[in-house]
Amino acid sequence: MKDVLHKLNWRYATKVFDNSKKVSKEDFNTILEAARLTASSYGLQPYHFYVIEDSEVRSKLRKASWNQSQITDASYLLVLANKPTFDESLVDNYVDNLILIRGVTKKDVEGYSQFVKGILLGLTDAQKKSWTSDQTYLALGNLMTIAAEMEIDTCPIEGFDKTQYNEILGLNDKNLNASVVLTIGYRSDEDKTQNHPKVRYSKEQIITYI
Ligand SMILES: Cc1cc2nc3c(=O)[nH]c(=O)nc-3n(C[C@H](O)[C@H](O)[C@H](O)COP(=O)(O)O)c2cc1C
Repeated sequence: MKDVLHKLNWRYATKVFDNSKKVSKEDFNTILEAARLTASSYGLQPYHFYVIEDSEVRSKLRKASWNQSQITDASYLLVLANKPTFDESLVDNYVDNLILIRGVTKKDVEGYSQFVKGILLGLTDAQKKSWTSDQTYLALGNLMTIAAEMEIDTCPIEGFDKTQYNEILGLNDKNLNASVVLTIGYRSDEDKTQNHPKVRYSKEQIITYI
């Protein structure tokens, strides 16, 4: 257990990546699988993950991200996109997959399907957008933690223009929206941030036992 906390103290939001060191495809795929395995509310997975490999696209995205160097210098760039809106097909698609994977019948899951629809389809458009975006942050957390466990560096990025990202990646036509970004690679020795002590509230300040 001590080791887990050691890794969480070791990780930091990397400001400067060493672009000469590349995370192996195998390690990257392990980290990416952590995103796919992430839990989501009702299991619906209302998101899609984009791995941006094209260097020209990465340059464009860097401009749309306050010119943050991590966007082009990290080994991998991931864009976590949420579904800004949805209808009952979000639940139907999940249920079809559930039937396929678990070998149950439509009748077995009809009650669950109606229950979930009853809750989610009553949300306003703004609530739907916010709820699906929330789900992407769970995947973000898993990605960062698993990478840290493997001693691979990351920087989560919210500092970007969503409208520009959606245009560059052609997300609008797919009912997707760039929610949050993760860069994955190896820290540069020059990155002084790695020596900064963590700024966190004390246990007394942030935890209450009732
Ligand atoms: C959702 C999210 C978005 C962030 N966006 C940026 C960003 O755009 N650029 C950046 O350099 N750091 C970004 N950070 C890093 C935070 O500033 C950093 O995680 C925080 O200060 C705690 O420091 P630590 O991660 O190094 O322990 C972001 C972090 C999170 C969780």
